[in-house]
Amino acid sequence: MKKILLTLAAIAAVFSLSQCCSGDVEKCKKGADCQNAEQCCQTADNQVIKAIMERRSIRKYKDTPVEHEKLATIVKCGINAPSGINKQPWEIRVVESQELINQVNEVYKKANPDIMEKDPSFKNMFRNAPNLICVATAQGGNLDCGLLGENMMLAAQSMGLGTCCLGGPVRFLKDNADAKFFLDKLGFSEGYELIYILAIGYPDESPDAKPRDESKVQYIK
Ligand SMILES: Cc1cc2nc3c(=O)[nH]c(=O)nc-3n(C[C@H](O)[C@H](O)[C@H](O)COP(=O)(O)O)c2cc1C
Repeated sequence: MKKILLTLAAIAAVFSLSQCCSGDVEKCKKGADCQNAEQCCQTADNQVIKAIMERRSIRKYKDTPVEHEKLATIVKCGINAPSGINKQPWEIRVVESQELINQVNEVYKKANPDIMEKDPSFKNMFRNAPNLICVATAQGGNLDCGLLGENMMLAAQSMGLGTCCLGGPVRFLKDNADAKFFLDKLGFSEGYELIYILAIGYPDESPDAKPRDESKVQYIK
């Protein structure tokens, strides 16, 4: 009898565990420091943690542009990031014009004539994304803009969208005189400088996480 009761209790425990875990517990265990199964369940169920742990830089996108409303929600999440003394030292330009992306991409292709041979899947210089969120800062606002960007990337992730923070194309745009029309079109205010571009779109790949060096973390108790 005791044996039967113990077996039933074990089944009930397993059942309740699978009930409380809508997320992938094994995946969660790898990414989080779980003290026990209950805590792990809570972590696996946490949608913010899920978005953080599942976000990856996406470099292949479907052609479908992102709906305007979704972009607006993502940007709203961005500007709700904290900033030093609430200075909000950023300006944001959301590029929804496929024509503008194609035009500046022609400049890139001219400067890199062998790009299609090097990368047969190449669509555009923004890691093939159909939309862009361009972020500029007034001097000294890089940290605040980083927080803005992560908010946007995580919001996008939670909405089934992929992103990639891009510094390379910013350097190209600034260094190439033929790309000036693109920066002019963004029309940032005097004193603001483009610092990164978020490629955004519906992902067409699901890359694995790159390793993280946990030895850089120390807990001082
Ligand atoms: C400031 C910054 C600039 C970046 N610039 C580029 C870039 O120009 N091209 C690119 O493909 N990825 C770029 N990345 C993406 C990183 O390569 C990527 O975040 C890193 O390899 C970790 O991979 P994960 O985002 O998938 O976790 C950039 C990321 C940051 C934060």
